[in-house]
Amino acid sequence: MSAQIIDGKTIAKELRAELKTEVEGLKEEHGITPGLAVVLVGEDAASQVYVRNKHRACKRAGIATRDLRLEADATHEEVMNVVRELNADPDIHGILVQLPLPDQVDEEEILNAIDPNKDVDGFHPVNMGLLLAGQPSFVACTPKGVMHMIDTLGIDLTGKEAVIVGRSNIVGKPQALLLLYKHCTVTICHSRTKDLAEHCRNADVLVAAVGRAKMITGDMIKPGATVIDVGINRTEDGSLVGGVDFAAAVEVAGEITPVPGGVGPMTIAMLLRNTVDAARASAGL
Ligand code: GUN
Repeated sequence: MSAQIIDGKTIAKELRAELKTEVEGLKEEHGITPGLAVVLVGEDAASQVYVRNKHRACKRAGIATRDLRLEADATHEEVMNVVRELNADPDIHGILVQLPLPDQVDEEEILNAIDPNKDVDGFHPVNMGLLLAGQPSFVACTPKGVMHMIDTLGIDLTGKEAVIVGRSNIVGKPQALLLLYKHCTVTICHSRTKDLAEHCRNADVLVAAVGRAKMITGDMIKPGATVIDVGINRTEDGSLVGGVDFAAAVEVAGEITPVPGGVGPMTIAMLLRNTVDAARASAGL
């Protein structure tokens, strides 16, 4: 039996269409154009593609964007100054500093410097803390997008075993909390986990946020499980693959996201959602 393929592209497209209508309303009724600033430091090829896609999606939804580029050898202070200027700019409602940053720039300090009210990535400790406290404000776009996908599929999460592979601030940790709030029993696995396969085989919902191609093999998946692949890796022949061995997993899972066309488009749709929310909040709406 073959799994249902979760079409992130289509789900995201619907969301973006709704957001476009909402942005038009904000402009007409309140004179507000949501504005997102994207800061890219250096020439990382993957980051350049991500940033281009973010600008394009914003433009299509009627969100104004500002493209700020700094050289790969930019100093920590130069990046800090860009963030400070954006914090003070009333036309900018959302600030995104594309990660990773070059070594000479202290990532933690930069993220901490972003005004939490403009933190559309949800990486600021204030927003991470609010999520932990069960009072979510801005939630990281990828885990938020995963939850929207699961919700769209109509899957009831109550009492399900959810296993997340990866413990990053960007995906693993917020994903665990979001699944917990939907009443899953949550396990976070990571590079030091003793028997990863055993944990994975227990998962009704498996979220793979791993940086190695096809690390999650077919025999690690419980028959009928919902498999969400957050990984994105370029192979030697130039194609994109996830952290899950899709060809094997599709024969075992109940539902599965493809790479590309699964989680990626959802992340961008949630960035637009957060930017519109930031613009609304700035106007007291
Ligand atoms: N690099 C990879 N994913 C992300 C993301 O969601 N936000 C930012 N700012 N950088 C990233």
